[in-house]
Order: sequence, then C-alpha cells, then structure tokens
Amino acid sequence: MSEQTTSEGMYRRLWPSETDKFRDHLLRLDKDSRRMRFAHAVADAFIDDYASRMTDYGSVVYGYVLDGKVRAAAELRRLGDGWGEEAEAAFSVERAFQDHGIGSELMGRVVRAARNRSIRRLYMSCLAENSKMQAIARKHEADLRFEYGEVIGEIVPQTPDYFSIMAEAAEDRMGFMIAVLDLQSRLVRAA
Ligand SMILES: CC(C)(COP(=O)(O)OP(=O)(O)OC[C@H]1O[C@@H](n2cnc3c(N)ncnc32)[C@H](O)[C@@H]1OP(=O)(O)O)[C@@H](O)C(=O)NCCC(=O)NCCS
Repeated sequence: MSEQTTSEGMYRRLWPSETDKFRDHLLRLDKDSRRMRFAHAVADAFIDDYASRMTDYGSVVYGYVLDGKVRAAAELRRLGDGWGEEAEAAFSVERAFQDHGIGSELMGRVVRAARNRSIRRLYMSCLAENSKMQAIARKHEADLRFEYGEVIGEIVPQTPDYFSIMAEAAEDRMGFMIAVLDLQSRLVRAA
C-alpha cells in the first residue's frame, strides 16, 4: 500500500460528520458508474437515504478526498448483528478519477480492515460485466480468491498481526485529525 497522502489527495476513513460528502460523491457518479455501483439503476432519493446510513452498524468507509471533496469511496459493511466471518464490500470512483489506481488502493485498505476484523469472505455485488473490478481483484490475488459472476472474494487466511492492526489505527488517527480540521475550516467559512 502506498503512502496515505498523495500530491493529489488523501486516502482516509470517513467519519459520521461526513455523510454529506459521501452522499455528494455518490450523486456525482455518472449513470453507468451508479448502475455498476448498486448493481441496478437507483434514484437520487435512494442515494440520499443510503448515504445517511453511512456509518450504521459500525460500517467502515474509506474515501479518497481531494480539495475537501470525496471523489472515491470504499465501504466495508457487516452482514449480521456483529462482525462475523462475512462482510460486504463496495467501491465507487467518479468517472474523471477512474483508471488512476484509486480503486486498487482502496481495495487494499478494505482487505486490511476486513482481515483486522477476522473476516474471511467479502461479498461484492458486482455485475459480471465489470471488467475493471475484476482487474483490481487480480491485482490483489495474493490476498483474495475470487469467484466471478456474482463476485465473491475469499480473503486468503492470514491472522491479523500487530503491524496490520497498528497500521490501520495509526492511519485512522491521522485521518480523524484531518477530518476535524476540515470540519473546522468549513465552519469558519460558513460563519
Ligand atoms: C470499478 C472501479 C471501482 C475501479 O476503480 P478505478 O480507480 O477506476 O480502478 P484502478 O484504476 O485502480 O484499476 C482499474 C484497472 O482496470 C483496468 N481496466 C480499465 N478498463 C478496463 C476494461 N475495459 N477491461 C478490463 N480492464 C480494464 C485498468 O487497466 C486497471 O488495471 P491496471 O492498473 O492493471 O492497468 C471504478 O471504475 C468504479 O467506481 N466504477 C463504477 C462503480 C463500480 O463498478 N463499482 C464496483 C461495484 S462493487
């Protein structure tokens, strides 16, 4: 996984105060990307409601944030009441930012977050035609075994270790500080 910050933007976890940024990102997806993300066409009202539940049930959402806007996101969602052996993952990158390695970078973070929670199977409701998603999966074949079609990724068993847990915690702490600074600057601008 590369450095957390790039000259162009930052990969970090999104916090509950940022559901509006997540919603705006999903609303900016072009028609085809929106259909690929949700596996069918969805209306703006559906996205409003979906985004408002961004962090429900302990979901972990990472964003690629550039100039205060979320341009890509990766979600890790529980399937039951607690974190079990299975979870759902989803990815979205705005059209102008696709094919720059952002989806692959986010996949790395989701796999690490899943592994740190002892998740063994990742379900991704990807359409079979989604060749970009399959290309990303191939890049992570050391970590994931994929059953294509209705894409199901099995995380290659590897016990979370001290370093992967610390890496996620350290990155989250830094991301949280940046999110707070960003919120402060938005409040100052609005005052
Ligand atoms: C799928 C998606 C998340 C990928 O993100 P991304 O940032 O564009 O992906 P990356 O740039 O990291 O990697 C894309 C890979 O696909 C390859 N690719 C691009 N177009 C392709 C095509 N038509 N066929 C096959 N591979 C293709 C790229 O070459 C790249 O692989 P490489 O790095 O080995 O060259 C993004 O395109 C997206 O949000 N699509 C719409 C929503 C969606 O499909 N979500 C997934 C549902 S779970």
